[in-house]
Amino acid sequence: MGFSTDAIHAGQKPDPVTGAISVPIYMTSTYEQDELGKHKGYEYGRTHNLTRQSLEANIAALEKAKYGIAFSSGLAAIHNLMYLHKPGDHIICSDNVYGGTFRLLELNLKEFGLNFSWVDTSDIENIKNAFTEKTKMVYVETPTNPMLNISDLKAISEFCKSKDILHVVDNTFMTPFFQRPIELGADIVLHSTTKYLNGHCDVVGGIILTSNEAAHERLRYLQNAAGSIPSPFDCWLTLRSTKTLAVRMERHNKNAIKIAEYLNIKFPGKVVYPGLESHPDHELAKKQMSGFGGMISVDVGFYSEAKKIVDSLKIITLAESLGGVESLVCHPASMTHGSVPKEDRDKLGITDGLIRFSVGIEDVEDLIADIASALQI
Ligand SMILES: Cc1ncc(COP(=O)(O)O)c(C=O)c1O
Repeated sequence: MGFSTDAIHAGQKPDPVTGAISVPIYMTSTYEQDELGKHKGYEYGRTHNLTRQSLEANIAALEKAKYGIAFSSGLAAIHNLMYLHKPGDHIICSDNVYGGTFRLLELNLKEFGLNFSWVDTSDIENIKNAFTEKTKMVYVETPTNPMLNISDLKAISEFCKSKDILHVVDNTFMTPFFQRPIELGADIVLHSTTKYLNGHCDVVGGIILTSNEAAHERLRYLQNAAGSIPSPFDCWLTLRSTKTLAVRMERHNKNAIKIAEYLNIKFPGKVVYPGLESHPDHELAKKQMSGFGGMISVDVGFYSEAKKIVDSLKIITLAESLGGVESLVCHPASMTHGSVPKEDRDKLGITDGLIRFSVGIEDVEDLIADIASALQI
């Protein structure tokens, strides 16, 4: 099936009792059992919920994975993923990930005996050099948040297979519409569904997708054991949203290309967007992604300048998060990446002058006028 057909139909059959086209929201914490030792496949809400299962099957189909496991947030998904490890295990991570991911792994899970190497995964040599006999996973964000660095997923997958370790990709920025890491050899894909997959800034959620039977079985067990499940209503909202993922992503991409090209001509400072030829990994982006997405980072020099600009935008809203239909702007150094030490931020390019746009699907002329007026260009 084509992407949009799967987006609208996969995991969602009309309700067998009423014929309802929209999957019902099963608001129940428990289920009647036929007799002791015999139930209908549904025992308890933490373990089984049909609205959640529909969402999991839907996004799994889009990522070309056999299985999906939905969580109460993107970070809950990442936390659960890390339960696959034992004290002493070593994980190689992209050095520029979402600040909350860095905080969870480096500032919290390290205390439980896990070891992390933070390397620039856009150069595979850094992964090879960081590998030790204790390495169990390579965890990659591509494009990264907020510097939009690109890593070669096929090459990393081949390396991970040769070492018999897991290759995990946070695909939040691209969504399966533009990039499908499992088709490129990755073992596990995860998302903050809070972002493009839900796309309307009204749900916090996460999901893990995989075709690896052993990883799926263990993660499913661990989710039930740890309990970080999404509500049936949140699952329903996200399922409603994936139906329009293709049309939304096309528009995010189209608007972002126009804005990035405009900034590239008019703005004298650094403009980072994978669709620009000036992006160091533009060629790789064209090879492994079918679009460039809706995220643009711009370095305006100083905190005072960044503050003046984000405060004067009228349509584009100053807020955390990204991937919604409404355009947002944020100041990563003080917002999304505030828990990354300043020294590390500066090395990564997350300067006090960096602002990050999540380009929405409004009329692009209005967005360009808003940006032009705020940047005085
Ligand atoms: C790339 C990426 N991964 C994971 C997360 C965490 O997701 P959540 O906020 O849903 O917990 C975020 C949040 O911004 C993100 O940007």
